Amino acid sequence: MSETLTQTQATSNIAPGPPWYHAFRTVRRIRQDMIQFLTESTEAYGDVARYRFGPIVLHFFRHPDHVQHILQARHRNFCRSSFYDQMKRLLGEGLLTSDGDFWLKQRRLIQPAFHRKRLDTLAWIMAEEADTLVQRWQRHAGGEPFDIVEDMMRFALLVAGRSLFETNVEEKADLIGEALTFAQAAFNERVNSLVPWPEWTPLPRFRKYRWAIATLDQIVRELVQERRQDSETHHDLLAMLMELRDADTGEGMSDEQIRDEVMTLLLAGHETTGNQLSWTLSLLSQHPEVADRVADEAQRVLGDRAPTSEDLPSLVYTKQVLQESMRLFPPAWIMDRAVVDDDNIGGFVVPKKSVVVISPYMTHRHPDFWDDPEAFDPERFAPERAKGRHRYAYFPFGGGPRQCIGNHFAMMETQIALALLCRAFRFQLKPGHPIEKEMLITLRPKHGIQLSLSPRTSFVA
Ligand code: HEM
Repeated sequence: MSETLTQTQATSNIAPGPPWYHAFRTVRRIRQDMIQFLTESTEAYGDVARYRFGPIVLHFFRHPDHVQHILQARHRNFCRSSFYDQMKRLLGEGLLTSDGDFWLKQRRLIQPAFHRKRLDTLAWIMAEEADTLVQRWQRHAGGEPFDIVEDMMRFALLVAGRSLFETNVEEKADLIGEALTFAQAAFNERVNSLVPWPEWTPLPRFRKYRWAIATLDQIVRELVQERRQDSETHHDLLAMLMELRDADTGEGMSDEQIRDEVMTLLLAGHETTGNQLSWTLSLLSQHPEVADRVADEAQRVLGDRAPTSEDLPSLVYTKQVLQESMRLFPPAWIMDRAVVDDDNIGGFVVPKKSVVVISPYMTHRHPDFWDDPEAFDPERFAPERAKGRHRYAYFPFGGGPRQCIGNHFAMMETQIALALLCRAFRFQLKPGHPIEKEMLITLRPKHGIQLSLSPRTSFVA
């Protein structure tokens, strides 16, 4: 592959790719199956491919050096693409969608709330919700297969919601869940639609989209208002967001900013972890020996008690399983950036105003960095094997200054949940159930994941 690149570089510094008149064919293939398209692109052109859609030039980069260039070394030259403008309708100017000086100010302000030590105070919420899920799943144990994805999403939503608002969110969880699901579905449809229908179009799906945004908006505004009038001390993320003060000006965030950040954290924080846990259980149902090791570890470290943040460093193998699951099924499977100024990546010209695309899904399977890339092998993340690996061969949480702010939160939550679920149950995939990917903003199991559960004998209810 590197030979191919060197030859191409020697003759031209325009990256390889199909001729411009293949644009329609390319769009059709992307819409059919984006991952298949990227796989074929890599087979045809190697680590770098260039696509032209009319005036738009897009480069896809797979090599970790190139990912590092975009996310870290030259991050200032790669800003949020127009894709994020559509998200702003729901998320406003929150961390995910904002850019430039405003983003930097917000990120500096919010970062301390996500410090590992502060997050430790939220571990009990994660453990409590995981335990509630275990109790609920006892009903399914020994019974028919059922789709676990919905439950995983609800678990992740309750953890994100309660971490933001302590207990307040419980009775609103269903409404929030429904509205978030609609907003996301409609948003995905808009992004994938060939016709950019305006949002006021009187089609039912747009009416539902407007309802979803208005509902979420109202719930979040009410929760913030209630808190402003509440004299009690709280220890949730909302309290932390409200306490934060700019180091230079001493200013806190306005209600509008808090609304945007809360909405961002709710959305970014639940869909991703819900998917991650779903993919992980699907893998464990197909690798029972791995599930047994996770269960043994949980039993050894925790016995029959609930986990705390202090147990997390001991749940080593559980973490490796989650890391390997995110290698194969990274929930944030694709990222793009708009190019600010002309650049050169790996010897290829990348013009300003063009778009660059990187995909953890693809880089996590790069054969120069991963042996037998499709195999599920949590030992890859054992410290001695992970040592010396390219930092950007694995980037499920992104990298550089825009790295996921919730990465420790997500790892804590999923380590706790996985340990408790494996301690309680064995998982069997329903025979013949198709495991396919749905490539939305996050990577979802297209047909859900139908598992049957059997109780582990060592489990004490
Ligand atoms: C398995 C779980 C998660 C995965 C895989 C994930 C992945 C990512 C990735 C890849 C990015 C960077 C996107 C880019 O550079 O374009 C990101 C950003 C972000 N994530 Fe996560 N995330 C997860 C969980 C969470 C959680 C639990 C929260 C909050 C509680 C969260 C909040 C955010 C926010 C606010 C950003 C934007 C950060 C910024 O640009 O400053 N994420 N996430």
